[in-house]
Amino acid sequence: MGKTVSEFNIIPMTDGIGSLNDRFERPLRDLRISVMDRCNFRCPYCMPEDKYHRHFQFLRSSERLSFDEITRLAHIFAALGVSKLRITGGEPLLRPELPDLIGDLDRIDGIDDIALTTNGILLGQQAAALKAAGLDRVTVSLDAMDQSVFAAMSGGRGSVERVLASIADAQEAGLSPLKINAVIKRGINEDAALEIVEHFRGTGIIVRFIEYMDVGTINHWQAGETVPSAELLERISSRWAVEAVDPGYHGEVARRYRFADGAGELGFISSVSAPFCGSCTRARLSSDGQLFTCLFASSGTDLRGPLRAGASDEELAGLIQGIWSRRQDRYSELRAGGQGADEKVEMYYIGG
Ligand code: GTP
Ligand code: 5AD
Ligand code: SF4
Ligand code: SF4
Repeated sequence: MGKTVSEFNIIPMTDGIGSLNDRFERPLRDLRISVMDRCNFRCPYCMPEDKYHRHFQFLRSSERLSFDEITRLAHIFAALGVSKLRITGGEPLLRPELPDLIGDLDRIDGIDDIALTTNGILLGQQAAALKAAGLDRVTVSLDAMDQSVFAAMSGGRGSVERVLASIADAQEAGLSPLKINAVIKRGINEDAALEIVEHFRGTGIIVRFIEYMDVGTINHWQAGETVPSAELLERISSRWAVEAVDPGYHGEVARRYRFADGAGELGFISSVSAPFCGSCTRARLSSDGQLFTCLFASSGTDLRGPLRAGASDEELAGLIQGIWSRRQDRYSELRAGGQGADEKVEMYYIGG
């Protein structure tokens, strides 16, 4: 027997719905929804093959939130101030019928941006349907242009050729602005940085470099494996002149630059060397309905339990309001001060 709503200690909202701030006056604006814990890659820095092998127990379908459950929660989040949704995984395109969910989310009042993060392998065949359903844009992960380096980063799965073909299909479908996320690991794919920039300069596609981070514990992150953004910027700008660009919106994660010759834009996500917790407006929902208020959280709050026990929208909104209003997360700033955590949720589960 599951719990009843009254056993979840929910305080229904009484003071109306509206903007919601945490303990550091940060509003709740973005919801990142993981729809699938599985992935068709085995990037050693995220899902190393020796741990996520053929017999690893991923969630059962019935444990994942249904599209109706996700949509209901997204409505409640929108009423609390969320205007931006990002669909993540694992690999979100492994979730069957994803365009149906996008269509449902697109109909929610107050949601003005729906984006998707993917490794790109299955994007080509779904790009047009996703766009037609209401997806605004995609961000494709790509850590190398050379196939053998790519394979070292993806755990031997997928191909550069296929990711590039998907990117072309996504552009053709009008999913823009299209962004590339590249993680650079010291000594593994450092040369890829210039190769990726060279490839995408002048295409309208925005390349962003993410500093390799200590998300989760399974990757046994070492600080020396991170290539600081300043170092990459130095290498890139000694080849092509760049100039800083103002943030596109308050709290933008990437620091933006443009090429002086007009060949487009690039960005740096520097969570290790320049934390941006002060403007963090992001909540994360795992595919089994746990709500996390930080990428580096050690635990979340179960929303699926109350949802399936029959909680009303007011009760669920009250639960979320309580969580967000007590939020004090600023992990990256604490890490910079030498105060990391031992227990952290894994990236493939929380969605990046
Ligand atoms: P845009 O809406 O396109 O600006 O998206 P974004 O910059 O939020 O980009 P995306 O969702 O592609 O995030 C890129 C990566 O930045 C994620 O995969 C994470 O690695 C990192 N990132 C995003 N949000 C956070 C955050 O709140 N904290 C930390 N530490 N890293 C984050
Ligand atoms: N550090 C930085 N980025 C990471 N990603 C996954 N794990 C890490 C990590 N430990 C990236 C993926 C993808 C995005 C969702 O997050 O490569 O581009
Ligand atoms: Fe999959 Fe992305 Fe993790 Fe790689 S980083 S294993 S593509 S979820
Ligand atoms: Fe937000 Fe946590 Fe990332 Fe800081 S470390 S920006 S609080 S998700």
